[in-house]
Amino acid sequence: MSDFFKTNLLKNDLVAAPLAGYSHLPYRRILRKFFDGIIYSEMISVEGLARRNKETMEYLDRIETDSPLVFQIFGGKPENYGEAVRVAENECQVDAFDVNMGCPVKKVIKAGGGCSLLGDLGRIQAIVSNIRKSTDKPFSIKIRIGLDQKHLVYKEILNIAENEGVNALIVHGRTKSDMFGGTVRLDILKEIAETAKIPIIGNGGVAGFDTYKEMKETGVTGIMLGRSMMKAPWVFKAIKEKVSDKDLYNFLPSSEIGNLLIEMWGYMLEHTHGRGMKETHYMHVLRKFAVWFCKGQDMAAEFRTNLYKTNGIDEVLDLIRQFYKC
Ligand SMILES: Cc1cc2nc3c(=O)[nH]c(=O)nc-3n(C[C@H](O)[C@H](O)[C@H](O)COP(=O)(O)O)c2cc1C
Repeated sequence: MSDFFKTNLLKNDLVAAPLAGYSHLPYRRILRKFFDGIIYSEMISVEGLARRNKETMEYLDRIETDSPLVFQIFGGKPENYGEAVRVAENECQVDAFDVNMGCPVKKVIKAGGGCSLLGDLGRIQAIVSNIRKSTDKPFSIKIRIGLDQKHLVYKEILNIAENEGVNALIVHGRTKSDMFGGTVRLDILKEIAETAKIPIIGNGGVAGFDTYKEMKETGVTGIMLGRSMMKAPWVFKAIKEKVSDKDLYNFLPSSEIGNLLIEMWGYMLEHTHGRGMKETHYMHVLRKFAVWFCKGQDMAAEFRTNLYKTNGIDEVLDLIRQFYKC
């Protein structure tokens, strides 16, 4: 059995979640400044990979230092998964795969993937067995605990995962109907961690040392961070330095945050070259990060308002330099 998850989680128990629109190569390069753990890619369409769709293939962009990296795939048709993983492996160096079985957004549900799989255990079984037959690469699956509190399916899925040779299970401790709110069921994470033979990665609501510690006490092997790492990429370093949730946004000196944004823009520019991607796309993404990263700073509200009024990247970068004095 592959040791990819065990080895990497032993080195660093924190994991960067897949975030559509944000876990792209430029942002992953920023995240890697703060930790050496596993990063998940944005979700990639299985159907797009199987058809070698040009835009889909761009999600496989990576550089050598962008490791350990897990490519997350999603889709509704079990028969396409085998071809999708073969295409990805032919295209680039693959460390590991993951299957999205926890996303509740309409686009993914409509494709028959994400959370909709939680209501069809037969399809989950067919997907994982198809992947296992098609590749020797390690792979995880990312689930929620169930459709709602009355329809919990985590036990059945753990069973399938262990029988079919899945290498790690990521459990977002909320249900499909909770969407992104609701209580994270740490009691269920504890129950799974106690019975599982494969590494369990817990997910949901961790945003500093306090919430990290609470989840760690459940006995999970790894802890995956989503929105906190999207809004504060330094969260990985802050947790290792035992910074509490409330102090997360005071952790880095202001000028360092400004420099991070400017550095990210450099990576974004590099990534657009030679590809169909437009600079304006990344400008909007950079602006979003700027809006999030300034939380807690003096005059943050005014900075945000001014950011929304900018026209073009030069104005965005000027504002960042002025605000952060960098
Ligand atoms: C903007 C955004 C994009 C997301 N994209 C994905 C995705 O591509 N695949 C996935 O499995 N989950 C996705 N998620 C869910 C996160 O990976 C994570 O499970 C969820 O945010 C809960 O963790 P948190 O409470 O730490 O944010 C996304 C969440 C957000 C907010």
